[in-house]
Amino acid sequence: MNLTDRVVVITGGAGGIGSALARRFAAEGAAAVVLADLDAHATATVAEAVGPVARGVAVDAADEGQVRDLVADTERRYGRIDLFCANAGVATGVGIEAADADWDRAWRVNVMAHVYAARAALPGMLARGGGHLMHTCSAAGVLTAVGDAPYTATKHAAVGLAEWLAITYRDQGIRVSALCPQGVDTPMLADGLATGHLAARVIAASGAVLTPDQVADAAVAGLAEERFLILPHPEVAGYAVRRAEDPDGWQAGLRKLVRRLRAAPTPPSR
Ligand SMILES: NC(=O)c1ccc[n+]([C@@H]2O[C@H](COP(=O)([O-])OP(=O)(O)OC[C@H]3O[C@@H](n4cnc5c(N)ncnc54)[C@H](O)[C@@H]3O)[C@@H](O)[C@H]2O)c1
Repeated sequence: MNLTDRVVVITGGAGGIGSALARRFAAEGAAAVVLADLDAHATATVAEAVGPVARGVAVDAADEGQVRDLVADTERRYGRIDLFCANAGVATGVGIEAADADWDRAWRVNVMAHVYAARAALPGMLARGGGHLMHTCSAAGVLTAVGDAPYTATKHAAVGLAEWLAITYRDQGIRVSALCPQGVDTPMLADGLATGHLAARVIAASGAVLTPDQVADAAVAGLAEERFLILPHPEVAGYAVRRAEDPDGWQAGLRKLVRRLRAAPTPPSR
């Protein structure tokens, strides 16, 4: 898919990666970019900065009724949705001790929001004979997120769901991509780095921390090639191969990194 004249929806559109995707899609000549995020004012402000093709709407991506309304309203205004980016996501920064409410929120935003997006957007796409779903998952969904059990479990589920959708709908003209970045300089990671959180330090030690614009570049390239797995950090492919070929060795390597980081003094806040 190229983005020229496309109608695009992006959940989590006011955030770091979502707003970078919006800017990049607008620059590529998208006909409309609908940004959906929780806070109406923040979303409208980001949309205004993106330009006249962008529209900001307050939507909870984990609420099926609101996602259905978002899709219906977009189709009514613009006639179609060519690309739906299920990008909203939440991290918890904790292990299995996370409160059930935090597990539930991670499950609802990182997984069920993708189910709701697909349920709402697919009927129109199938009727028109084509469309693209891009789900922002994470390298945590093909590897792990040390220090964040709900994030790891739900991002693995998100990759599994995206793969299932890709296999099930490809022959009906639907393309599905799983965007799986590792470290990206957005509040989600920056807040963890600022407090010296182990999860954030492991991510920073495992590869480059990209800018959201670099992730958007990789997304546009992956969409152009209609690739399923879009890895803005190419090294993640190597880690995933090592994990598949030698899970025990891969886990041992990661444990060693964690021990090294735990022993090292916490870097000062940025
Ligand atoms: N930053 C990273 O290092 C990194 C790495 C891999 C994957 N990701 C994923 O990228 C995606 C975007 O994250 P980001 O890094 O831009 O973080 P971010 O915190 O800047 O943006 C996330 C956005 O999602 C929105 N959001 C959260 N819950 C929502 C809901 N229920 N409905 C609508 N919007 C909601 C937030 O308001 C926020 O604007 C997430 O899915 C995240 O898991 C981030």
